[in-house]
Amino acid sequence: MQKQLLSSLPINLLLLLSTLRSTEATIRIVIGTCHANSYLTGMSGFCTTRNDADCCQEGQLYPQYRCSPLVTANTNAVMYIGSFSQNSDGGSATACDGKFYADNETVVALSTGWFNGGSRCLKKIRINGNDNSVTAKVVDECDSVNGCTADLNYEPPCGPNAITASPAVWDELGVPETQRSELVVTWSEVLSS
Ligand SMILES: *[C@@H]1O[C@H](CO)[C@@H](O)[C@H](O)[C@H]1NC(C)=O
Repeated sequence: MQKQLLSSLPINLLLLLSTLRSTEATIRIVIGTCHANSYLTGMSGFCTTRNDADCCQEGQLYPQYRCSPLVTANTNAVMYIGSFSQNSDGGSATACDGKFYADNETVVALSTGWFNGGSRCLKKIRINGNDNSVTAKVVDECDSVNGCTADLNYEPPCGPNAITASPAVWDELGVPETQRSELVVTWSEVLSS
């Protein structure tokens, strides 16, 4: 994911990146990059592979991100499929309000940094992807620090720029069910009036 992001940057930005390498804080402001600051050692366990889940492998090191790229009017993200309904993968109720959401509701989970301790809970975001646009409600965190536990379906931590979106979001963007694994999107906050 990070590699793809880097290779999509124009070369002058990459040069800037390498010259600023020693000042991480500056880089973060300039291009909104966020680096892993620790690693989680994978433990495997019972992992349902529904919704294209990526299951933890024993002993594998997974990066942990406590930050996410800066949110702008056009924030780059990678969207994944997920379900927030009862009896789905993951199993636990959403972090924002402890509820479950049916697959026909446009709801999402954001990476830990973007979730920002819940400051975006129940707020709407606009997601642009597949030449379409949809608004969705933030209801959960895509945990970018913890993972590989029964509670988290033995899946690795999320990346720093992940949006896990319900089937309804994918429907609205017009992505066929067979192609719902990863989609490069942009998102922005919808300001409530
Ligand atoms: C989702 O489906 C349920 C049951 O079929 C229905 O009651 C509800 O209105 C639907 N919600 C949306 C947002 O379409």
